[in-house]
Formats: sequence, C-alpha cells, structure tokens
Amino acid sequence: MASTQPGFHRLDLCAADEVPPGTMKLCEAEDELVLVANLNGAYHATQGVCSHEYFELDRGTLMGDSVTCMLHLSRFSLIDGEVSDPPAELPLAVYDVVLDGGRVFIEVPEGPLLVNR
Ligand code: FES
Repeated sequence: MASTQPGFHRLDLCAADEVPPGTMKLCEAEDELVLVANLNGAYHATQGVCSHEYFELDRGTLMGDSVTCMLHLSRFSLIDGEVSDPPAELPLAVYDVVLDGGRVFIEVPEGPLLVNR
C-alpha cells in the first residue's frame, strides 16, 4: 500500500466493487458513518449522516453529483459537500478518497474524523 502523508492516516471503508457506478453505500470508520458514492467511476466520500438532523444519507436519493436527504429534502453536493437546497445550513464533511488494491479508503488527518452536525 502506498504511504500516507505525514499526520494523516487511511481508513478502510469497503471493496470498490461494492459501490457500482450510480450507487452509494454507508460504511463505518472510527465509530462514524461515511457515505461512499460512485459517480461514473469516480469515488467520493462524505459524512454519512445529514448535517441537519440525524438521518442516514444512503437512504436518500442520488441524482447527478448530489444526494437528497429524505427526511427534510436538503440536497448536498457529493463533490464538495456544499448545501444546494435547505433546510440544512452546514455542508457535509468531505474526505479524500484513495483506491488501493480494489478497496476504498479515505485519507484523513490523525484524530477524530471531522463531521459537521
Ligand atoms: S435530516 Fe436531512 S434534511 Fe433534515
């Protein structure tokens, strides 16, 4: 496995083929939920729970490069986490994805995983 940057570590989320193009999967890392989305072969990772209230985003809908939370219909970019439609105000935390050996990892700073809530 390639080395990580100093001060960062890798968290193993899932096998890449568990997330086919056009789908999302909720994974667990360090006691937090992480949403992995495959957008036309490009993998993206954000926090797995809505920044508005507690709702798991894999139960939302994926359209284009956005996910819509089904509880109150906030929409977020899966690219940069920004809010496209309210009522959520906080963006989703986004994580750098690394593909290695057929698995999806995120590479994040040491310490607790950043989550906006
Ligand atoms: S919990 Fe997601 S929009 Fe309210």
